[in-house]
Amino acid sequence: MGYAFGLIGYPIKHSLSPWIHGKFMERINTEGTYSIIEIDTSRSFSQEMKKLKEKNLDGFNVTVPYKETIMEYLDVIDQQAEQIGAVNTVLSQNGKWIGYNTDGIGYVRSLWGKYEETEKNKANKILILGAGGAAKGIYHALRHSGYSDIRIANRSIEKAEHLLGESLESAMTLEEAEHGLSQFDIIIQTTSVGMKPNEADVIIDLANLKAGAIVSDIVYQPLFTAFLKQAKSLHSSIHFGHTMLLYQAQYAFEIWTGKRPPMEKLDKELQQILEG
Ligand code: ATR
Repeated sequence: MGYAFGLIGYPIKHSLSPWIHGKFMERINTEGTYSIIEIDTSRSFSQEMKKLKEKNLDGFNVTVPYKETIMEYLDVIDQQAEQIGAVNTVLSQNGKWIGYNTDGIGYVRSLWGKYEETEKNKANKILILGAGGAAKGIYHALRHSGYSDIRIANRSIEKAEHLLGESLESAMTLEEAEHGLSQFDIIIQTTSVGMKPNEADVIIDLANLKAGAIVSDIVYQPLFTAFLKQAKSLHSSIHFGHTMLLYQAQYAFEIWTGKRPPMEKLDKELQQILEG
């Protein structure tokens, strides 16, 4: 008998996670399943959680809209997940459910995977665009990884201030970010702006970009967003969104199995799937 993993969320029929975890299992030479467990929002979540317990999964992922709802069903919550206020990975250990958040760390690992020098250079000045759930995970993971110069720009500045807590003076409006762009080494777009079907949209104009800056977009549908296209036209280094998906899965897999699957060529393979 191999591992039994799964994903809960709604709607998730087109999720790429079964493909990714299938690849991981192949790569570490282990047997297992990764099932899609779609939970319609009209159903009772607590009833569904009872049923899920009976499945005796070794671990499962949690996606929209249940990343916060799941928290009250957990026996233990990891400190970072608690701080972020959302859980995307659950480990089942002796019948107890332990919750983690691998999204932000997944982003940081993906950045280090693509641009090795960023792992050493903690003095990099970072700009996060957006202050929603994704931004929060990435912000805390960057802080935990040793970066201290991080600013957050958001359409509503209050939300950026709220996310930053005691460092609220690091909040900016999108207009301020656009004008002051030349001070940043890494720019991370964390909102859904530019996602299909609004592919022409960009959150800010990149005209003031510093030479040599890295521009990253967590949107991966399309992969090559209008934001990244502009960055590329300005000769900056770009970082695609699907790599975060891969690395958040890698960290989840590691929590479940204790093994870190190798990532060689997965990035290109997933890119091909996304580009049809
Ligand atoms: P997620 O969990 O995917 O991050 P969220 O928590 O709903 O989603 O957050 C959405 C983020 O995208 C917010 O920062 C939001 O800005 P506001 O806080 O001002 O609403 C940002 N966002 C969404 N649509 C936007 C748009 N058209 N222009 C600018 N920012 C946008």
